[in-house]
Amino acid sequence: MTDVEAGAAQMQTELASSRDGESDVKPILEVRDLHVHYETTRGPVQAVRGLNFKLMPNEILGLAGESGSGKSTLAMALLRMIKDPGKIVKGEIRLDGRDLLSLSESEMRQVRLAEIAMVAQGAMNSLNPVMRIEDQIKDAWADHGVRYSRREADEQIANLLQWVGLRPEVARVFPHELSGGMKQRVVIAIAISLRPRVIIADEPTSALDVVVQRQIISTLRRVQDDLQAAVILIGHDIGLMAQSVQKLGIMYAGKVAEMSPIYEMFEDPMHPYTQLLIDSLPSPDQKTPLKGIPGITPSLLNPPSGCGFKDRCPFAMEVCDTVIPPLEEKRPSRMVSCHLFSEET
Ligand SMILES: Nc1ncnc2c1ncn2[C@@H]1O[C@H](COP(=O)(O)OP(=O)(O)OP(=O)(O)O)[C@@H](O)[C@H]1O
Ligand code: SF4
Ligand SMILES: [Mg+2]
Repeated sequence: MTDVEAGAAQMQTELASSRDGESDVKPILEVRDLHVHYETTRGPVQAVRGLNFKLMPNEILGLAGESGSGKSTLAMALLRMIKDPGKIVKGEIRLDGRDLLSLSESEMRQVRLAEIAMVAQGAMNSLNPVMRIEDQIKDAWADHGVRYSRREADEQIANLLQWVGLRPEVARVFPHELSGGMKQRVVIAIAISLRPRVIIADEPTSALDVVVQRQIISTLRRVQDDLQAAVILIGHDIGLMAQSVQKLGIMYAGKVAEMSPIYEMFEDPMHPYTQLLIDSLPSPDQKTPLKGIPGITPSLLNPPSGCGFKDRCPFAMEVCDTVIPPLEEKRPSRMVSCHLFSEET
């Protein structure tokens, strides 16, 4: 059994037990028909084009997809942190039933960090180089109106650092004194400092070596478990994802192509893009060369009519040219956006 298969099998067991009694559990986060555009002089870049998904309490959902498929745009939109020229043009984002898009900016500020926290893409390189780690943590608290006495703050910071596997002395150092993995742990410590119910981690392991990648993922899983939080883990490496998440969403050109429990997805990928992605993973013996997926992603300035994947899809049919395939549950727990399965609904 390869690492990927072993990880997927373990996730399958966890998922099966988490499914018991799932019927009356409500999603902690629900996204409906979300559209995000970036206005440019050439027209709107339609970075997120009608996303729908649910995140259950305690669930670890992976989101993968090639560069530019809209992963970070979605992550930022969930926290209403899309910056100009970006805009959420349509949709609903519900946290525990509450519509985040209808909150005032000051209400939303309370939600960030305290309810949904983000480990942003590249955040470990955005730590303030001239501030000690403890001051950066205190700053994040101050931004959310949280104040502690000096003694309480020192104690909280020491606990927080220990929680993510760092020594308490790290509080007094500057970012340049830390390795990449340690900086990423600091970023995770800040994100979890107000015990959020949802953690979004956008490529938390990119630019780290393989051993450190695994350590960071296991730290994230440990804090997720301690907090009983739900996690959205964004990444490129679906092999690493398979060992870390319960369910995986594959994004393509601003949409979800398929979202399935990890074991089923690897055993029997349904969407043609998922099939090609899984097929292109290096084999364990490394004897088969890496296969790319022929063709290029469509422009999001003028997205094509019909299915976004039609120009690269080996199974494209006439209907794919004109009709956008909706993301639907084609088999139990398997959401797929492809006309090949229209008869299965
Ligand atoms: N500020 C911006 N102005 C115009 N277009 C943008 C802007 N930010 C992102 N985009 C476009 O939005 C689309 C989605 O980008 P996004 O960063 O969300 O992708 P991603 O999946 O996170 O990619 P990566 O894997 O490289 O991080 C891309 O086509 C990108 O070029
Ligand atoms: S809808 Fe058509 S073009 Fe798109 S993935 Fe399915 S078969 Fe391929
Ligand atoms: Mg990104």
